[in-house]
Amino acid sequence: MIPRPRINPISGAEQVPGNEAGGVRVALDKVRRAFGELVVVADFSLSITTGEFLAILGPSGCGKSTLLRLVAGLTAPDSGHIGITPDDTRFHTAFVFQDAHLLPWRTVLENVALPLELMGIGVTERLGRASAALDEVGLREAESRYPAQLSGGMRMRVSLARALVTRPRLLLLDEPFAALDEITRFRLDARLRELWLERGMTVIFVTHSITEAAFLANRAVVLTRKGCGIKLDRRLELPQVRDNEMRAMPEFASEMQGLLAAMEEED
Ligand SMILES: Nc1ncnc2c1ncn2[C@@H]1O[C@H](COP(=O)(O)OP(=O)(O)OP(=O)(O)O)[C@@H](O)[C@H]1O
Ligand SMILES: [Mg+2]
Repeated sequence: MIPRPRINPISGAEQVPGNEAGGVRVALDKVRRAFGELVVVADFSLSITTGEFLAILGPSGCGKSTLLRLVAGLTAPDSGHIGITPDDTRFHTAFVFQDAHLLPWRTVLENVALPLELMGIGVTERLGRASAALDEVGLREAESRYPAQLSGGMRMRVSLARALVTRPRLLLLDEPFAALDEITRFRLDARLRELWLERGMTVIFVTHSITEAAFLANRAVVLTRKGCGIKLDRRLELPQVRDNEMRAMPEFASEMQGLLAAMEEED
């Protein structure tokens, strides 16, 4: 019998059972993380549904990166629990940092193939999959170039392709497009949103930008300056398919206003 595709209720993406794509549920329960005396994350609880696109906003130094690193398992909580369901998916988590972190001595294609190489996948398959991932970010023609020969926006696209190449079920991004000019950033935001709609993965996106959060996410959380308290946890009521025209819609302005008010509010 051919398995019936399931539709992700949030992204609308088709998920074929057995397909690696699709999202995970992330549940943080009373998570605490301190650095010496400084309690950066205090009793933080948040539940992120399968296939959700969550934006995390907050002032500089409030603990956004620490939170993301905790979810990625790059740092351990002092107490509390972080559950990812299904739990065999640590392997399917990908992280995109603010800097592209490409290996300068490797070509674009070899950089994107790296995670597959580390997973022990053979050369033909990994280069084929890396090439397809580059295609998804519109960079196939640059595959034999070296990182130094790319613009900042191209480097970030390579970094995104490298994150997508393993078909992650959980994609974590820490201000990935912050250093780019606005037009490049808008393009990459639009592409990321499309990829999310196609794949239905769970995405957690950290940003300083209210505009970017409202454009990308289905849910936005605004954090307090200290201790990662949740000032606002809001579902964004905007169309699923988003393009630059949406930026002129009153609903978009209204969502941005809501986020701005929460950002400006005293803790
Ligand atoms: N490894 C570490 N050792 C000591 N202190 C740390 C460490 N990592 C983060 N911190 C401190 O924790 C606090 C939160 O840092 P974090 O990088 O999570 O903030 P952020 O919200 O991501 O800031 P930004 O928006 O500037 O990126 C800061 O005061 C920072 O100095
Ligand atoms: Mg940070």
